[in-house]
Amino acid sequence: MLINYQEYQAMFEVEDRMWWYKTLHDRVITEIKTYTDDYKNLRVLDAGCGTGGLLTRLKAEGLHAIEGFDYNEFAVEFSQSRGLPVSRKDITAFDYPPASFDVVISDDVLYQFDDPELLNALKCIHRVLKPGGIFITNNNAFAVFSGIHDLAVGSKRRFVKTDFDRFLAAFPDFRMVKASYWSLLLSPLILAVRLIQRLQLKLGQINMEEVKSDVSLPSDPVNRFLYGICTLERHLLKRSPFGSSLFLVIRKSDLP
Ligand SMILES: C[S@@+](CC[C@H](N)C(=O)[O-])C[C@H]1O[C@@H](n2cnc3c(N)ncnc32)[C@H](O)[C@@H]1O
Repeated sequence: MLINYQEYQAMFEVEDRMWWYKTLHDRVITEIKTYTDDYKNLRVLDAGCGTGGLLTRLKAEGLHAIEGFDYNEFAVEFSQSRGLPVSRKDITAFDYPPASFDVVISDDVLYQFDDPELLNALKCIHRVLKPGGIFITNNNAFAVFSGIHDLAVGSKRRFVKTDFDRFLAAFPDFRMVKASYWSLLLSPLILAVRLIQRLQLKLGQINMEEVKSDVSLPSDPVNRFLYGICTLERHLLKRSPFGSSLFLVIRKSDLP
């Protein structure tokens, strides 16, 4: 869970414009279009939807059968204030009728759990996903990128692809069809910032009461520049070997 109301407010205020969210949402939409037919009529669930930024973007893309949930009441309220069908549920124990959704998305939620809870979340997602449907998930990657952001968003871990290979072994009809880290091109910059943060933490120069996530809108030229770099990378590299996030598309087989 994010550490406080201000983090949800920050997310709500910037997620339609900030380079990082825009890139993530572009990636999600591209993969939905790649791996499904008739995408506007898909039934889509955003599990751990935060303040509703992705659902808003999906709506703008013409998808109408969308819904979401989040465990935090501020997140639910912010999402509902945008007129989105969002309720309060726990991703590790949620229920809908089996095979209800063509697409389930869960971005930057799973890193808050240890293995048993994470496997419970995957079981719930697997159950509500239709055969042939896809599960899209983005999560923070590589421990070397950990910093103040991880503390602010309640992150317990950072992943590498082989972690998900291991989790998915429990679901024989789940197949990873895409795995890419991002952003490779911004890695040196992100690494430098996070290394300095870790040093400041070690030296006790950071007040733990005031830790904040990286969710903030830079100046317009910087925001455009960072979004441009991420967009270039997205078009140049279908799969990138390194970056602070791991983006996955997992398909549930429709074979009996
Ligand atoms: C970093 S935010 C990501 C939000 C959104 N998916 C996005 O991409 O902007 C993590 C979200 O997970 C939610 N969360 C934490 N534990 C949860 C749980 N057990 N069930 C559902 N949501 C949960 C938090 O409230 C928060 O909104």
